[in-house]
Amino acid sequence: MKILVTGGAGFIGSHTCVELLNAGYEIVVVDNLYNSSEKSLERVRELTGKDFAFYPFDIRDKDNMRKIFKEHKIDACIHFAGLKAVGESCQKPLEYYDNNIGGTLALCEVMREFNCKKIVFSSSATVYGMNNISPLKENMKTGGTTNPYGTTKYMIEIILEDFHKADSDWAVTLLRYFNPIGAHKSGRIGENPNGIPNNLMPYITQVAIGKRPFLSVYGNDYDTHDGTGVRDYIHVVDLALGHVKAVEKIIKDTPDVNIYNLGTGKGYSVLDVVNAFEQASGQHIEYKIVERRPGDIATCYSDASKAYNELGWKAERGLLEMCEDSWRWQSTNPNGFEE
Ligand code: NAD
Ligand code: UFG
Repeated sequence: MKILVTGGAGFIGSHTCVELLNAGYEIVVVDNLYNSSEKSLERVRELTGKDFAFYPFDIRDKDNMRKIFKEHKIDACIHFAGLKAVGESCQKPLEYYDNNIGGTLALCEVMREFNCKKIVFSSSATVYGMNNISPLKENMKTGGTTNPYGTTKYMIEIILEDFHKADSDWAVTLLRYFNPIGAHKSGRIGENPNGIPNNLMPYITQVAIGKRPFLSVYGNDYDTHDGTGVRDYIHVVDLALGHVKAVEKIIKDTPDVNIYNLGTGKGYSVLDVVNAFEQASGQHIEYKIVERRPGDIATCYSDASKAYNELGWKAERGLLEMCEDSWRWQSTNPNGFEE
């Protein structure tokens, strides 16, 4: 079975490539390297001892995408490629709608031309908006997203569902990720943000190696056990294994739309994460409590039972392991993939 992985050089994509190869799938990767380095793919080859084709194309470039489908008989696509910075999406909505929605439409158009109609899409817990109460379940109302990034995820979910309604040959799996952190055990691949990290864990690891003086904790007056925001952190390798299960199912089942939360079902506060990281790394993390960040909610965690019941998947790795693995990656690769 051959799987096209868009955005395969990125954080979640590279970990998923490792697990797909380990599970015996052939892969083809397309990534324009806008937010990644081809070195991540060299390390995927090193970790798995397996080779695969890589195309440095933009998925919006349909002529180039056709070349991939002419050269390979693709059975299904996992679609990670997209822009993902919440704050930046408010400054550059046109770029976000163009890349995320335009990219998905172009990809699906070419897939359809080559009669490949199985797609696993990287969605996000952000589609649940601000008004649902955790634990979040797949059948809760979506929408009410608060930034263009989140709106692209919400809109792409609807677009892909419409494809299936119009043509029942389309098989669509929407995976709603909670907060992926951690890295491959080897420390050879991991998250490599450009500039100042937006997300909690890469910020903490940069404080730990001395790149940043302190962590700003965005508010300690939320209605949570210690007043700081609560999220469902999931190890990126568990997330990657969830994709392998989703691919297994989409290949064998009658085409349908399936939606799964990929989370642990547990919520941890910002200070819980800081404490766990200090324990896992032996490093002190300096922090200051600052104003709330606009758009943040108090608590967001999953009910992950549907993925367990239907995919036979559940997250196995706990918070301490996530912190240890994030730290191994950061401390052995202080400059990311630049050696
Ligand atoms: P990432 O930026 O590391 O990976 C995305 C990859 O897509 C990058 O390698 C980038 O170069 C590539 N890309 C972007 N636009 C492209 C285009 N037009 N053509 C070809 N390649 C393109 O991000 P990630 O954290 O690995 O996220 C993967 C997916 O998961 C994204 O769709 C993201 O929105 C989604 N997601 C991420 C999180 C998270 O917290 N990391 C949470 C929920 C959902
Ligand atoms: N936080 C801090 N300081 C920081 C960064 C984050 O206190 O420097 C706090 C936030 O306020 C929040 C928690 O840490 O309480 C987690 O924040 P992240 O930015 O790491 O993650 P979010 O939950 O805000 O967002 C993430 C992804 C989005 C995705 C969303 C829901 O970044 O892409 O999860 O899946 F949409």
